[in-house]
Amino acid sequence: MRTQVGIIGAGPAGLLLARLLKIQGIDSVILEQRDRAYVESRIRAGVLEQGTATQLRDAGVAERLDREGLVHEGVEIAAGERHFRIDFQELTGKTVVVYGQTEVCKDLIAARLAGDGPIVWNAADVAVHDIDGNRPRLTYRCDGQDHDLVCDFVAGCDGFHGVSRQSMPADLLRTFERVYPFGWLGILADVPPCSHELIYARHERGFALASMRSPTRSRYYIQCSLDERLEAWPDARIWEELQRRLGRAAAARMVTGPSIEKSIAPLRSFVSTPMQSGRLFLAGDASHIVPPTGAKGLNLAISDVHYLQRALVAWYKTGAADLLERYSETALARVWKAERFSWWMTGLLHRLHDETSFEAQMQIAELDYIASSRAAQTALAENYVGLPY
Ligand code: FAD
Ligand code: PHB
Repeated sequence: MRTQVGIIGAGPAGLLLARLLKIQGIDSVILEQRDRAYVESRIRAGVLEQGTATQLRDAGVAERLDREGLVHEGVEIAAGERHFRIDFQELTGKTVVVYGQTEVCKDLIAARLAGDGPIVWNAADVAVHDIDGNRPRLTYRCDGQDHDLVCDFVAGCDGFHGVSRQSMPADLLRTFERVYPFGWLGILADVPPCSHELIYARHERGFALASMRSPTRSRYYIQCSLDERLEAWPDARIWEELQRRLGRAAAARMVTGPSIEKSIAPLRSFVSTPMQSGRLFLAGDASHIVPPTGAKGLNLAISDVHYLQRALVAWYKTGAADLLERYSETALARVWKAERFSWWMTGLLHRLHDETSFEAQMQIAELDYIASSRAAQTALAENYVGLPY
């Protein structure tokens, strides 16, 4: 088989790249190791930067996003019983949209399957070959048969555990990593949210976040230890802990109910450079991971794709290779800033040390400063709504 761009992974990065290329008349094949139902039900991110929503609109897949997405003009920060609001609209003129990553993927998959091109589901043993020549190849197994896909370019959009990053020459890669000594326990429930905006809470018992997917579906998280087992957290214990950490006002408004999903995710900062070797280009989690505290993971995958599709389109339309050559540098400049913001938000709001420690006093002083300084609030807001492309 032959295509122009071979894409590994049908997450948000791979799906959006395929869609944007198709709009410009460039063909691709997407190889995905899981099945469609799995990809469409994986609960992950929920906050889209304004620029991400614009990308999805430009890709012609934002009809439902514009109908069902919840536009948020700010967030609340809580520290014990003290709350303050960061007003994005007033500080930056921008907003964010709450719309689940699962819904973004469903919309992109529907567009793809309506005539854009194939997604090979259940593609096993995907391997990348010949990235140093101008005919890179992907091999894989599907339905008990071996397949060979010859391409002009390969886009590695296969997430943190994928094969693409491992296919880069080992002596070229440099990686930077921080693994945090805690995780997030997340719960999804069909109950109305306790607040019309997200609440990020620092508490002596640990971080908590009140988020949502719709006016009738809530998503909450609490900081937990890494060796925590889900069985130790029946729903009632999670609700109780959320009520403690989010403060009395939110607790009073919190509607509880049975969970429809519950999971524990580790927190990690990770960057692998460069994002390109020969004809292999990485985008999204395949190249970098952020802890979710800044709501940046999905948004970074989308901004990588913006730079990559622009470079590929320039190459196909004019033969110019300069944007492709600069892809890694251009994408990484934005990636590092989002890494910094996510690391900073994580350090500001999580319990890392005892409440009597100097570090805990620094967190409290910094929150106090943000609460009283328009400059500090603006810095938080402009990062949260998304830095310019
Ligand atoms: P992915 O969404 O990971 O997609 C990669 C795709 O490649 C997957 O479909 C995978 O099945 C496929 N694949 C992997 N290996 C292969 C292979 N060898 N061959 C073929 N296909 C392969 N971000 C937030 O902002 N907020 C959150 O709350 C949040 N929660 C998260 C929870 C979890 C458990 C995880 C893992 C991530 C979370 N993130 C969150 C991060 C965010 O979801 C990711 O940044 C985003 O999914 C990145 O998109 P992507 O397309 O780069 O990668
Ligand atoms: C979510 O709704 O899943 C969510 C929201 C904000 C974050 C992380 C996760 O920072």
